[in-house]
Amino acid sequence: MSNPSILILPGDGIGPEVMAEVRKIISWYGDNRDLAFDVSEDLVGGAAYDAHGTPLHDDTMAKAQEVDAVLLGAVGGPKYDNLDFSVKPERGLLRLRKEMDLFANLRPAQCFDALADFSSLKKDVVAGLDIMIVRELTSGIYFGEPRGIFEEGNERVGINTQRYTESEIERVARSAFELARRRGNKVCSMEKANVMESGILWREVVQKVHDEEYADVELSHMYADAGAMQLCRWPKQFDVIVTDNLFGDLLSDAAAMLTGSLGMLPSASLGAPMANGRPKALYEPVHGSAPDIAGEGKANPIACALSFAMALRYSFDQGAEADRLEQAVEKVLADGVRTADLLGEEGVTPVSTSEMGDAIIAALNESL
Ligand code: IPM
Ligand code: MG
Repeated sequence: MSNPSILILPGDGIGPEVMAEVRKIISWYGDNRDLAFDVSEDLVGGAAYDAHGTPLHDDTMAKAQEVDAVLLGAVGGPKYDNLDFSVKPERGLLRLRKEMDLFANLRPAQCFDALADFSSLKKDVVAGLDIMIVRELTSGIYFGEPRGIFEEGNERVGINTQRYTESEIERVARSAFELARRRGNKVCSMEKANVMESGILWREVVQKVHDEEYADVELSHMYADAGAMQLCRWPKQFDVIVTDNLFGDLLSDAAAMLTGSLGMLPSASLGAPMANGRPKALYEPVHGSAPDIAGEGKANPIACALSFAMALRYSFDQGAEADRLEQAVEKVLADGVRTADLLGEEGVTPVSTSEMGDAIIAALNESL
């Protein structure tokens, strides 16, 4: 049987630097755990625009459809701010999500013990935090029609449309309930059914999927604004949160920051199973391209490394090896190894991106 395949799309800004560390980790698994991957690499975002005049070449799109998993760094940067909307770096990412039909975006917000002091919230509010946001990723206001900027009388009007079908809500709800069964068995669904018809439908459908298929899971509903408030007040009340594309974008950034550093958090975007039973999948850190520190060797590669851990778990059925990588990261943090984004303690000198990668490899070696 051929090796499982991974397409690496480093993208822009710090993307290539953090991805270089993940390549070391991928190779480590081939050398030490008999888990070899066929790795190919291509361009996305501004890097693809510079080379091809488009943020995602059709050939890259076709490759992404064929591989077992895509690993993406980050896209965007000030250099591309004035590009036409249709070729902005972000469009490359949105096209991947849409055409691969990656409807369930899993964004864990986990607080590492060694970093509980970094949170802007009190330590007892965040210590031990482990929640999972499931964000719908291929529909809603990000993709709904009509959209655009139109002339209306003597002024312009900007329009986007929030639109959800029952089946779109059903499938992401199922993903959330399935995950909850493997975690704390609790789902909180967030929308604004008090103001939006799409929210009324969302709530009804999530409740129906629950009652018919997942009655064993505890389900609650919250308006998304109240949900944001509760996330800051007492985040440990949540296990899995399921929500739409736009609310999920906002709530997942807020949840990520509870944990102290955006540089720590991975994500998985999953679609329907392929012929080989694996879900279509793209893994990426939650952080952006951080153009202010790009190329300086300061970036934290942990979020990208943990994204690969999610790939081991969700695409390659290697839960124990995913645990191994996550524990290696925890060990490195417990040992006090810090990239510049994690400073704050007295007398700690930051390590570079590649030194952090090496520290993770050393911890992996120790785990054998
Ligand atoms: C995210 C990002 C993207 C989004 C951007 C880069 C298009 O903010 O993944 O959360 O809005 O979905
Ligand atoms: Mg976002």
